Amino acid sequence: MGLAIQAKGLTKKYPGKTALDGFSLEVAEGEILGLLGPNGAGKSTFISIISGAESASSGELFLFGENASNLSRKLVGVAPQDNAVYPLLTCMENLLYFGSLYGITGREARTRAEELLQQLGLSDKKNVPAASLSGGMRRRLNLACALMHRPKIIILDEPTTGLDPAVRNSMWKTVREVARDTGATVVLTTHYLEEAEALCSRIVLMNSGKVVADGTPSSLKRFAGREIAKIKSIPGKYEVAIDRLRKVKGVDAAIPTEHGLVVESDNISPLIQEITRVLEKHGEKIVELSISRPSLEDVFLKLTGAKLREGAADEPAK
Ligand SMILES: Nc1ncnc2c1ncn2[C@@H]1O[C@H](COP(=O)(O)OP(=O)(O)OP(=O)(O)O)[C@@H](O)[C@H]1O
Ligand SMILES: [Mg+2]
Repeated sequence: MGLAIQAKGLTKKYPGKTALDGFSLEVAEGEILGLLGPNGAGKSTFISIISGAESASSGELFLFGENASNLSRKLVGVAPQDNAVYPLLTCMENLLYFGSLYGITGREARTRAEELLQQLGLSDKKNVPAASLSGGMRRRLNLACALMHRPKIIILDEPTTGLDPAVRNSMWKTVREVARDTGATVVLTTHYLEEAEALCSRIVLMNSGKVVADGTPSSLKRFAGREIAKIKSIPGKYEVAIDRLRKVKGVDAAIPTEHGLVVESDNISPLIQEITRVLEKHGEKIVELSISRPSLEDVFLKLTGAKLREGAADEPAK
C-alpha cells in the first residue's frame, strides 16, 4: 500500500501567527486517522492546504505520491468545519451543485445524490432547503456533498461537534460504513477523545502547528502511565496474597491501601482473572473491582502541559 497523503515540513504563516510550523505527516492508503489538538493547533489550516483553499508558506504536500495539484485534489473530498452547504438550495440541489464542481452531472449525478440521501438518512428531506434542516441533518448533508465525486481521500473537519449523542453515534456508523465500502483514506479532526478511539486506528496529536505524538490509541495511552485495578475485598488481609500477586507475570506493583488493593500493570485486563484467583485462594471475597486507564487527555497533558479542550480534564474517566 502506498501513501495517500504525505506532508513534509509544511509551514503556514499568517501575519503575526504561524499556524503550521514544520508539520510532517504520512497517511497510508485506507487508513482512518484522527487528528487531535486544542483550538488553534492548526488542524483546519492543514485541511485547507490539502483542499487547496490555502497554500503553504513552505514545505511539500504529496497526494498518492504526486505533488498536490488541482488534478490530484479531485481525489479529495472535504467536509469542512463550517458547513459548506447553501441554505437556500434543497438537499438535492446542494448535492447536484457539489457534483457539478467535479464534473458529475445529469443522470449520474441524480443517482449518486439519491444514493447518498438514502445512506445518510436524508431521503425524506430531498426537496427541503438546507436552511430548514436541523443542525445534525445539515452536518450529514455537508458530509454527503463531500462524497458526491467518490473521493479516495475523505477529510472530515470536526464531523460531530455540536451534535447530540444519538446523532453523533449515527454519524460514526456512517463514517465507518463509508470507509469500509469505499476503502477510502479518512482523516478526521475532533476534540472528542471517544470519537477518535471509536473510529481511528491511528491518532496524531498536534499542538502549535506541529505533531507532538503519533500512534495507536492504546500505545499513546500506555505512554501516559500504567493501568490500575482497584480491588476491595473482605476481609482485606493482603499480607500473604500480596507476595503471590507481585509474582503474577505482568503485574508491576501491588499496593495495599486503606481503600483496598491497588494493582498496576501496562495492560491490566488479561491479568484480572489471575489476580482474582490468587485473592480468592487466600480467602478474600471480592466486593468491588474497578479499572482505570490513562486517557488520551492525560497523554496530551503530559506532552504539552495543555488541555485538548476546555473542561476536558473535568470529564469523568471511562
Ligand atoms: N485566515 C487566517 N488569518 C489569520 N490567522 C489564521 C487564519 N486561519 C487560521 N489562523 C490562525 O491559525 C491558527 C490555527 O488555526 P486552525 O483553524 O488551523 O486551528 P484548528 O486546530 O483547526 O482549531 P479549532 O479546533 O478551533 O478548529 C489559529 O491561531 C488561527 O487563529
Ligand atoms: Mg479547526
